[in-house]
Amino acid sequence: MTTWPELGTAERASIEQQLRTSFTRLTSNRLSLDLTRGKPAASQLTLSEGLDHQMNGDYLSREGTDVRNYGGLRGIIEARELGEEIMDVPAGNILIAGNSSLWLMHLTLETAMRHGLWASATPWANPAGEVSVITPVPGYDRHFALTDSHGIGMRNVPLRDDGPDMNAVRELVKSDASVKAIWCVPKYANPTGCIYSDSIVDQIAELPKLSKADNFVVLWDNAYAVHDLVFPPPKLASLFKAAQKAGTQRHMVQFGSTSKITFAGAGISFVGSDESVLKRLEERIGLITVGFDKLNQLRHARFLGGRVAAHMRQHAQILKPKFDLVIRKLNDDLGGLGIATWTEPAGGYFVSLDVLPGLAKKIVALAKSAGLALTAAGATFPYGLDPEDRNIRIAPTFAEPDALEAAMDVLTLCVRLATLERLNAR
Ligand SMILES: Cc1ncc(COP(=O)(O)O)c(C=O)c1O
Repeated sequence: MTTWPELGTAERASIEQQLRTSFTRLTSNRLSLDLTRGKPAASQLTLSEGLDHQMNGDYLSREGTDVRNYGGLRGIIEARELGEEIMDVPAGNILIAGNSSLWLMHLTLETAMRHGLWASATPWANPAGEVSVITPVPGYDRHFALTDSHGIGMRNVPLRDDGPDMNAVRELVKSDASVKAIWCVPKYANPTGCIYSDSIVDQIAELPKLSKADNFVVLWDNAYAVHDLVFPPPKLASLFKAAQKAGTQRHMVQFGSTSKITFAGAGISFVGSDESVLKRLEERIGLITVGFDKLNQLRHARFLGGRVAAHMRQHAQILKPKFDLVIRKLNDDLGGLGIATWTEPAGGYFVSLDVLPGLAKKIVALAKSAGLALTAAGATFPYGLDPEDRNIRIAPTFAEPDALEAAMDVLTLCVRLATLERLNAR
């Protein structure tokens, strides 16, 4: 098949004309479609309605705590065991917080900046110099916004299919003591869906030893640890074990939550680390709350404990057809044209689409004019700046299948039309 960049001018002009006619027809339909929402569909939330029936007048945790009362900053044991099942970190190394792991990430950055993440750690912030973290790109926009809000700079490194470009990472860590951390979404990364290889997990566990600073930290956001779409699912190596081997445990902070397992707005979150870090975070948390919602912890543990994998299979039954639809449309409409590439994730919440350089913003604007909302071009890069202006994040989970199909029709049409306009203008 001849790719579009290779086609003759006359042939390209004729295709552009046809596409323009389709586009005009489409915009007259006054569509209102949305591929921005990385959240569970209503049918997925229904899978967890059983949470409502877990208490039945029994409010005592296994260790005898009345979960209706104040206290218990670390979280009840059943919830920490649930954290172990989800995060592959021993229950004794987990603290449970409220519904948002993002809040825990904020707390961790704040603590590292101002107080030090463990008793003997030097705080990152200092009057003399810059503080920065390594940001594998494309990545999660909220990590970037949060980091920036703390006045922390960001150093991009490419994210490949098996994890960050570790040569680039090591170079930064070794050469610059202002580099204090690395953001990682190790399984089904947002937005590419890649999984870090075993070797990269080992290399990441070793990073603190390379740093000139004594307070380098790995921020391991395992938001999609159990969000598999194919079975048997690919396995992520244990960072906890790798760090134990490397002797770097207190430099690893792992995050997770039940946001996309039960109720995105009413779940529980986990932070896993060395005891010295958990103690420090607990001190900070103790200033803000007398204890998180333990009733929610207990009902989550009763509902999910020991059956996380089975529960996630039910999510996969809803989500896999949606991801299949997205990939089928991309293959059917863009395959072989030489104008775009995309990821085919085995889990997680996103598909990442790369168009020809310089076209992402144009495509997102064109889609908007046709009634399709897409995540802002550039959102997957710090400061909203995609240096090549080519990455577009697709979030297939929330839309119902019919709307998803209509949205993909618009998206692929906009990619084709914008690309041809550019090629023909040359
Ligand atoms: C990589 C990643 N981390 C964290 C979150 C948010 O997690 P939480 O709801 O626990 O704050 C998301 C949500 O999209 C995400 O994609």
